[in-house]
Amino acid sequence: MGKIVVAIDGYSGCGKSSTAKAVAKDLGFTYIDSGAMYRAATLHFLNNFLSISNPHDVEKGLRTLEITFQINPDSGKQETYLNGLNVEDEIRSMGVSEKVSEIATVKEIRKELVAQQKRLGRKKGVVMDGRDIGSVVFPDAELKVFMTADLETRAVRRQQELYEKGDLVELEDIIKNLAERDRIDSTRKESPLIKVPDAVEIDTSNLTFEEQVAQIVQLAKGVIDNEKDYAGNHR
Ligand code: CDP
Repeated sequence: MGKIVVAIDGYSGCGKSSTAKAVAKDLGFTYIDSGAMYRAATLHFLNNFLSISNPHDVEKGLRTLEITFQINPDSGKQETYLNGLNVEDEIRSMGVSEKVSEIATVKEIRKELVAQQKRLGRKKGVVMDGRDIGSVVFPDAELKVFMTADLETRAVRRQQELYEKGDLVELEDIIKNLAERDRIDSTRKESPLIKVPDAVEIDTSNLTFEEQVAQIVQLAKGVIDNEKDYAGNHR
């Protein structure tokens, strides 16, 4: 199959990551979770008591930050590593969720992570999800999707996700966190979350997981077919 870049953006907790992962699997593409990179950076700053308002701390934080992804051989799932340590579960905690959007407003941090994301997508055949993928990281992505879902639906899904990991969190706290992150992400100066004009909007409030994956896979296959030249070769 031809290789394209699929950029998936949208509000917090609307299922972008799990959807993007399943889309990548179906297409045989690589999945890259840009949110996990901001989350890992957040954990690094928190663990080392580094302040984003101190330029020396920001410089030190970025200099000592190494984020990688590895497939877990037992589960087959991709996991996030921070300086060689598996932090996949820790970066999804409420403690990190409460700080990540603040960290993601910092220009220098975004610049570094965006550069890494661009490198990871250089060879195409990738699905990346985040907030600025279609606007900043891959403005030339062949397919851009903007996912939405109403706040209540997103919060219930996130609560279930946390519950499955053994974390019991009040719905009200999740609603507050998602709404606050939406606010910060949409209003920040550096590459705010926007729906770019060439993105296809998918409201997942009333879709099952399988339906939302199928819609994006179908869109991607349509784009890949269109990329073929008249002889049927991929361009
Ligand atoms: O999974 P969830 O929707 O909760 O969020 P995420 O994709 O893990 O991203 C966590 C946070 O990182 C977001 O709320 C944004 O503040 C930030 N982020 C960003 O600024 N740019 C991206 N490309 C991805 C995430």
